Amino acid sequence: MRVHRSSPRGPAVARAGRLALAALGAAGIAGAMLVASGGSNGSGSAATAAGAAPAAAPAPSGTLSLAAQVGQKMFFDKNLSGSGAMSCASCHDPAHAHAPANDFSVQLGGARMDQAGLRAVPSLRYKDVTPAYADLLDNPDGISVPGPGGGLTWDGRADTLAAQARIPLLDPVEMANASSADVVKKLQAADYAPLIAKAFGAKAFDDSDAAFANALLALQAYQLEDKSFHPYSSKFDLYAGNKIGGALTPAETRGLKVFTNPDTGNCASCHYQGAGLNGSSALFTDFSYEAIGVPRNAGIPANNDLRYFDMGVCGPMRTDHAPAAPNAANGFCGMFKAPTLRNVATRTAFFHNGVMHSLEQVIRFYNTRDTQPELWYPTVGGTPKAKNDPGFPSYGLVTTQYTGGKVQKYDDLPTAYAPNIDTQMPMDGRAAGSAPPMSEQDMADLVCFLNTLSDADTKPATPAKPGACVN
Ligand code: HEC
Ligand code: HEC
Repeated sequence: MRVHRSSPRGPAVARAGRLALAALGAAGIAGAMLVASGGSNGSGSAATAAGAAPAAAPAPSGTLSLAAQVGQKMFFDKNLSGSGAMSCASCHDPAHAHAPANDFSVQLGGARMDQAGLRAVPSLRYKDVTPAYADLLDNPDGISVPGPGGGLTWDGRADTLAAQARIPLLDPVEMANASSADVVKKLQAADYAPLIAKAFGAKAFDDSDAAFANALLALQAYQLEDKSFHPYSSKFDLYAGNKIGGALTPAETRGLKVFTNPDTGNCASCHYQGAGLNGSSALFTDFSYEAIGVPRNAGIPANNDLRYFDMGVCGPMRTDHAPAAPNAANGFCGMFKAPTLRNVATRTAFFHNGVMHSLEQVIRFYNTRDTQPELWYPTVGGTPKAKNDPGFPSYGLVTTQYTGGKVQKYDDLPTAYAPNIDTQMPMDGRAAGSAPPMSEQDMADLVCFLNTLSDADTKPATPAKPGACVN
């Protein structure tokens, strides 16, 4: 639901949205969910770089078309990179819900595997039903006002999986091929070149541009057809389908309520897709874009340039919504896609810049972005305390307490765009120092619920302590 946020259409829209949500109510959302779905936390200390990740392609699940079989070969083929050391699976490891095996904020790639990326790597699961990007996409819930939504990548700049696949193949900090013709040459030399000819015809390599376009379609077909990208095998799927093994524990049930309750977590308002689009089950995203003020990640080398800002839909990676002049009014600046929360408990780098490294930390950010901003954003002009006061939390990004000074809230967005930041629950702009919306119990329960969204073949990043998530 992308009703209730400051949108490019202004605050009136946001207010109308809030009413719509209130009218539906939490119980309504929870009910809709059931109907709709018939069907390590250290920072940057991982041992394996992306290039070291998995080897051979697994056996295809189900029957794949010839094009999808080509796509599968390509997905695991490290020769399709400038370094010869990186395939799609290096960053999108099937054993980690098609996300990285390490907890780096951004991955290393490029011709010598030493170039840091700009964004955290999303999971490739459940992307098959993503609609194309539109500034005013109808919301899948049918009641929210239309807003920016759809598209692939964190800023929605690719409309199809085929269009998306071009980006990593040619990106100098990712697979770093010199050109599309370079990719085609490598395909022509691959041991599966005969399969390509079988799939796309004897003249498959005659025209380099056509061959590259077919290669992108092959990668798309693999992601669309292979069930490993959308297994719907989570406990939540059993629960939603009323199947054996799907009974939620009391803790998980409470967590679901926090997820949907507009007065506490309110997560469902952006991370839930009501009726199944294209017959799909609950996707835990409504494909919408919001600016939530994720703190700057100093660990990304590009951020050493203090004039550089990754502003999502308004650029710089995406170029069709750029401000007319630096800092000129633009409602798209700071907006990123609300990603699916399926398999989120298997992740170890969160948000578009991977600045957070545990689900618990993310939830605490949602809870205290406004009430304790000093835990998340730098303080300037203050004096660090020799010793933190007892009770000063250690879960934030900032673990030093300051006397005086000013907290630089939303430090990863030029101040001109601060008005774009969302102020809806749980980040409703309440005053610093006031009580946050979620209790400790709410947050623990929410983590339990989010763990039910993990597919059966995955492992939780942080295993639940014995006895947790039960009662
Ligand atoms: C070096 C790591 C890396 C490699 C290798 C890589 N990707 Fe990605 N992938 C990313 C990152 C980072 C993003 C997010 C990009 C952005 O938002 O601009 C992404 C995004 C995607 C998305 C969009 C997912 C979403 O949630 O919208 C798809 C689909 C995808 N990659 C497929 C592929 C395919 C297919 C390949 C191989 C041709 C590949 N990737 C290779 C890092 C990688
Ligand atoms: C106003 C809409 C909105 C609400 C409400 C909201 N989110 Fe989000 N969520 C987003 C957006 C947008 C992003 C991506 C932000 C970014 O990376 O800059 C995001 C990202 C996330 C991520 C990171 C996922 C990943 O793959 O990196 C998690 C986890 C998450 N949200 C959980 C929650 C939970 C839990 C709640 C409820 C407590 C919640 N969200 C409420 C919009 C929302």
